[in-house]
Formats: sequence, structure tokens, C-alpha cells
Amino acid sequence: MRRIFLIGYMGAGKTTIGKDLSKRLGLSFIDLDCYIEGRYLKTVGQLFAEKGEDTFRKIERNMLQEVSMFEDVLISTGGGTPCFFENMEFMNRNGKTVYLRVSVDELVKRLELCKHTRPILKGHSGKELKDFVAESLSKRSPFYEQASVVFDAEVMLTDSDVQTISAAL
Ligand code: S3P
Repeated sequence: MRRIFLIGYMGAGKTTIGKDLSKRLGLSFIDLDCYIEGRYLKTVGQLFAEKGEDTFRKIERNMLQEVSMFEDVLISTGGGTPCFFENMEFMNRNGKTVYLRVSVDELVKRLELCKHTRPILKGHSGKELKDFVAESLSKRSPFYEQASVVFDAEVMLTDSDVQTISAAL
């Protein structure tokens, strides 16, 4: 039985790389945000707006525990998932955690293009976005760094990089 949790900051490429990796490894793919949206019939943005972040984090923890019942699965988590409650310890106990590490500069470049879909980035742009990402990444890194495997995902991974990762897992 294999269960892999892909973790990392928003924009690290968890969903894109996760889909590719799960195919190569012959595992089912679950995106935790999509799973939450399907169960609550609301977007993550709506859940944040209607219920607030604290309630979203409780929902996220419950849904993480629910999807962790599946076997032979690769689960792409939300950027904040490892940093709340005991989620990081829970994932390390229940599978292999893989951190996709990307620098602040590269994350900001990627997030400028798609920040509107991320409620916690709303209102930030330019230098303010960079400061926000730098500060929150420094708070989150100690959680991310507890992963069983860390991959440098600074450059968008090529086919052969993903092949290398899948061979290492
Ligand atoms: C969040 C990341 C998002 C989503 C929510 C909160 C975060 O997921 O769970 O908007 O706190 O970093 P992605 O990392 O897939 O964007």
C-alpha cells in the first residue's frame, strides 16, 4: 500500500506535478482543495469568505483525515495544510510526504499570474505580495522541511525530472 502527500507553498506546482507523478506511480490522484469543494459544493474562496479561515482549517483537517483512508493514492494538499493542527505529523505517520521547494522570487512570479484564486493572497501585489510570501514562507518552512523527501522545484520540472522523482519514491 502506498500513500504519498505532496506539500509546498501555493504555486509550487503540487497539482501539476502531482497528476503526472501519480500516473507514473500507478496511484490515484486526489487534490485536497478539489475534494473539499466537491464535499461542500462551494469553492475554497467561498468557504473562506462565508466561514472564515479558522473554520476552513478545521474542514481541511477533517477532509485530510478522510482522504487518508484511501490506499494507493497521491494526495496533493493545500499550501497551508501541513502548518495547522498536527497535520504534518499525521501525514508523516500515514504516508510519505514530499515537499516541493521553490524560492520566494520564483513563487511570486508564478503567483502574480494566478493570485486571484487564492483567498489569502487577495489584495497583495508587487512588493507587498513579495513581502507577504517571504514572511509566510519563513513561518511555514519549518513544517514543510519535516517532509520525508524534499525536491527542488525551482525550475518547472521536465519529464525526466518527474521520472527521477518517481524512481526515488
Ligand atoms: C492555501 C492554499 C490553497 C488553498 C487555500 C489556502 C494556503 O491551496 O488550500 O486557498 O493557505 O496556502 P494551493 O496551495 O493548492 O493553492
